[in-house]
Amino acid sequence: MVIRWLLAAFHLLALGVGLGAVWARGRALRGTLDAPGLRRAFYADSWWGVAALVWISTGVIRAFGGYEKGSFYYLHNHFFWAKMVLLGVILALEIGPMITLIRWRSRVARGELPDTRAASGMAVVSFVQAGLVVLMVLAATGMARGYGVPR
Ligand code: HEM
Repeated sequence: MVIRWLLAAFHLLALGVGLGAVWARGRALRGTLDAPGLRRAFYADSWWGVAALVWISTGVIRAFGGYEKGSFYYLHNHFFWAKMVLLGVILALEIGPMITLIRWRSRVARGELPDTRAASGMAVVSFVQAGLVVLMVLAATGMARGYGVPR
């Protein structure tokens, strides 16, 4: 099925984009946050957001739309749940940076410079999120190959 192929392709492309983007966001937030530095951080942040949307939408369709092994397989697979817990932690960690970066963007749009004291903490969060994405890949590849099935 072409749709199954495309869902898998976009799910994997999101990994390439998202992992690079969250790492780049961390690097940008660690650098000098003048106008070009802020632009770099916003650019990486936007691609991180795009990757998250593609990941979650293609992932949900693959898991529950009947294109792969079926809902029953995933809902009874420990690696699937490990992957979901990791995703939950990534999303919870994202709340702070998301709110702060939205505030920064609106300040910059008004021609003002934001207060960037939170930047180094948000850089750490970005690097931790990159590590959690790597753990998600370990869980996903195990789940796809029959590991995590209760005996
Ligand atoms: C940060 C987010 C995500 C990452 C890094 C990620 C990573 C991956 C990777 C690397 C694979 C390929 C496994 C392989 O074929 O070897 C995969 C497959 C898959 N993912 Fe995700 N994923 C994410 C989000 C999601 C979400 C939110 C869902 C569903 C709720 C999901 C459901 C699936 C399904 C159903 C497969 C196919 C597994 C199979 O072939 O049986 N993913 N994922």
